[in-house]
Amino acid sequence: RFLRSPACLLLVLPLAACDGRQSVLNAAGQDSRQLLYLFIVMLAGAVVLWLGLNGLFLYVTRLRPQALKIHNVNWFLFGAGVLFPSVVIGALLAWGLSIMPAQRAAGDGLRIAVHAEEWWWRVEYWPKGATTPIVSANEIRFPAGSRSELHLSADTYIHSLWIPALGGKMDMIPGRTTVLTLHPDLEGFYRGQCAELCGASHALMAFQAVVMAPDDFARWLKDQAASAPPPTSPAATRGEALFRDEGCGACHTVRGTEFVGAVGPDLTHFASRGTLGAGNWQPTAENLMAWIAHADDLKPDVAMPAYDWLDPDQLADLAAYLKGLT
Ligand code: CUA
Repeated sequence: RFLRSPACLLLVLPLAACDGRQSVLNAAGQDSRQLLYLFIVMLAGAVVLWLGLNGLFLYVTRLRPQALKIHNVNWFLFGAGVLFPSVVIGALLAWGLSIMPAQRAAGDGLRIAVHAEEWWWRVEYWPKGATTPIVSANEIRFPAGSRSELHLSADTYIHSLWIPALGGKMDMIPGRTTVLTLHPDLEGFYRGQCAELCGASHALMAFQAVVMAPDDFARWLKDQAASAPPPTSPAATRGEALFRDEGCGACHTVRGTEFVGAVGPDLTHFASRGTLGAGNWQPTAENLMAWIAHADDLKPDVAMPAYDWLDPDQLADLAAYLKGLT
């Protein structure tokens, strides 16, 4: 009867997390793998203890009550109550402490400065020896096989950066810089999420993390450093004019144009990113139009005003312009 009941549907809920892009069980780097081993051993140990204790309990209470006689209670209490837990917890503590230096090791050269905003991520890449950063937003890319340093800071509220597939999380605190280093080694697309309740759109403060082959990453970074491509279609050209007339450039930068606003995300290569609205929607023309017209509905408390007076044709032109920022 249970299998046919609505309550049975609850069993499906855990499967929602099976995607793996945002899972500690899908370790794709040195740091997350160390944490995963620790987790598996602790979980396995807990299962063994649970089964052992319940088995012992069943044995002495139901099957062989006479076996309950303990000849030396003091030694039993000392062994099972002090010695055993001390050894187990001590061993786990030693193991946990031993992996910490590796988790905090210095990077191999690439520094990525991430600044938490309301409710999105400002991202700057500083390759070794760089004097100016390559600016992006809401997506963090890593070269596979080396350790990258994330220098984390925040505006106004405390946030926390967490890419479960790549490693542990690190708080982002206004007025100071915290450093997290990650050594991803499996190429792929992962999901990062703000892990500290920071306000109305905390749950919508996400981003895509991409691990690339080192050569691909170097090529990608070079492309990101370039100016934005000019509009190539009539719709995109009209969109650029609207972008100017509606004052979008007061908040957004599009490098290579007169748009140099620094309040919102840098849009220079917006169309090269996999998501819209900080990791939440596919960057389709339709979603872009909805976002521009009703950003505050989609993401409560966001600083981007709703441009709900624009008609659908104008929204489509703006979307065409943004989709051309490859
Ligand atoms: Cu930012 Cu939660």
